[in-house]
Amino acid sequence: MTTGNNDRLDLAAGLGAPLRRLLAQTASIAHTHGMALWLVGGVVRDLLLGRTIERDLDLVVEGNAPALAHILAAELGGQVNVAHAAFGTATVALPNPADMYTADPLLVDLATARVESYPYPAALPVVQPATILQDLGRRDFSINALAVAVRGIGMELAPAPLFDPFHGQHDLALRQLRVLHDQSFDDDPTRMLRGVRLAARLNLRLESHTQTLLQAALTRNRLEATTPDRIRTELCLALSEPQPATVLQLADAWGITPHIFASLRWSAALAQRCDRVLLTISRQPSAMVTTEQVYAGVLTYDLTASERVELAERYRLPKETARLLHEIGVVRTLRDTLLAPGLRPSEIDRQLQRFSAAALLVAACAEPPPLPDVLHHYLAELRPVTPLLDGHALQQHGVTPGPHLGQLLRDLRAARLDGLVVTRADEEAWVEASLR
Ligand code: CTP
Repeated sequence: MTTGNNDRLDLAAGLGAPLRRLLAQTASIAHTHGMALWLVGGVVRDLLLGRTIERDLDLVVEGNAPALAHILAAELGGQVNVAHAAFGTATVALPNPADMYTADPLLVDLATARVESYPYPAALPVVQPATILQDLGRRDFSINALAVAVRGIGMELAPAPLFDPFHGQHDLALRQLRVLHDQSFDDDPTRMLRGVRLAARLNLRLESHTQTLLQAALTRNRLEATTPDRIRTELCLALSEPQPATVLQLADAWGITPHIFASLRWSAALAQRCDRVLLTISRQPSAMVTTEQVYAGVLTYDLTASERVELAERYRLPKETARLLHEIGVVRTLRDTLLAPGLRPSEIDRQLQRFSAAALLVAACAEPPPLPDVLHHYLAELRPVTPLLDGHALQQHGVTPGPHLGQLLRDLRAARLDGLVVTRADEEAWVEASLR
């Protein structure tokens, strides 16, 4: 861990000079307006772990965060993207000092230090301004309830002690996740899913009392009482983690998966398929699919058709994800057809052209050889093939516009896929012959 002398957190090490300068300027401006600024949550945790900070910053303001956002935007040449006066939150886009020449600004999330109360379990919280101590006390896990005061001396950050009232640094050293109070999972059941993500990412285990609380919340069906939209948000975040299979593995081990979707289960085979995702995507750079799409397909690959529909409906998955799950269910039934000896390229194309590249790459991760090679060959070599003659050229050969012309173009493409025509003259001869 990178705590410096006198338990002062050496922000300098993890943040890099340009970011330090921006924070120092931000803190000085806040100070001038009588507001104190704190770096909080995941950033502090990651700094303590010695991880490089490549993320937008979360700052807590003891003062009026939306007002500070507008002042910062005016003084530093940025722009307030969103400000919610009622919640005391704002996001300000500031010129990125590390990257002045690109259009990408640095997003800084500012939030007024606040307490939250939950009118009933799993409800959205009611918010009131508070001190930094109270603000940390409303958080999910001790390792996220950490703060460092941000103060500027000129253009540099003043070293500051870690503010760690809930002993998060100790838990981080033990690599354990601990909630701050016994109602934590009842207040916000999505913390169970946040916990799984964090534990998978940072290789953490549940502290024993926290484990008891989690089991009790599961038994009381707290996840079932949470809106599907909030669960879906967490599921999407899980897919963006570096190791989504490990997230599922832990969710299984902690007894969470049956409360999300009973037939979703981790298996060693599934983990192996996930191991192939990045390489599989990198083989088809022009396919433009995202890792999240492919992980979503691979993790649900073994569900039945009706389970896929149920999953999509229960969590109101976006249309394209629901379609992807449906496509995967169909692609996996084509294995024997696609591996039939002597299958012509045009026949492979006929079978596969209706599917998205994402669905085919999911199958390439999940199916045993030689099917992945067939799918990669199709995507790279067959799918992009187009005839040299287009609709205009066919009309010059006397074909009248209409469905017949479209069919002729498709047949011509099939002939090209099967190697029956190579040159433009071949295609012209093929068209003449077809018309005869
Ligand atoms: N938080 C919480 N309960 C939640 C969501 C968030 O207590 N249900 C708190 C945590 O203290 C967290 C902070 O809000 O650190 C910011 O949340 P978020 O940006 O989602 O998480 P990070 O901790 O920054 O983690 P990540 O590395 O995943 O971005």
